[in-house]
Amino acid sequence: MADTKPKLVIVYGTGTNNTRAVAEGIEAGARDEGVDTALLNVADLPKEEIVAEITGAQGVAIGSPTYNRKPIPAIVTLVEMLKDADMDGKVCATFGAYGHSGEAPKTLKRVLKPCNMEQMEVLRILGKPSGPTLTECREYGAEIARNMLEK
Ligand SMILES: Cc1cc2nc3c(=O)[nH]c(=O)nc-3n(C[C@H](O)[C@H](O)[C@H](O)COP(=O)(O)O)c2cc1C
Repeated sequence: MADTKPKLVIVYGTGTNNTRAVAEGIEAGARDEGVDTALLNVADLPKEEIVAEITGAQGVAIGSPTYNRKPIPAIVTLVEMLKDADMDGKVCATFGAYGHSGEAPKTLKRVLKPCNMEQMEVLRILGKPSGPTLTECREYGAEIARNMLEK
């Protein structure tokens, strides 16, 4: 039987792996709800390949920690490329670990606004997720998946 599950691409940048742990929690929650996922570190692949993965998916979650009040440059470059791609109607989430101000997920959401996606509230996690904050990541992933499955 053909696989008709919608796909969520989760792409993140990270300095010290806290945002990776957030992304892994999101992936676990989304898979529990029955969507396919791809988990990509922005540093591991050419950005053109990441853009191609995202344009072929029904949902995208983009994560960056906040350094000096900004998202990391590789993720900023990626979202600028996404503004030129066909993103119409996808479910879109932005997330990231932070230390005190946590602007990055909100900045990414604002930059992606012209893409005409179904944008969710951002997820911000203080430091490395564990216990209740890891649960929060999983619940966020589940919510993304449910939004995709409702479409
Ligand atoms: C040089 C430096 C600058 C930082 N700037 C900020 C900042 O402006 N706002 C903030 O909320 N956290 C800031 N942080 C904290 C990081 O966002 C936090 O450690 C986060 O968990 C790192 O996530 P990562 O492991 O995914 O890189 C900074 C940390 C460092 C080392």
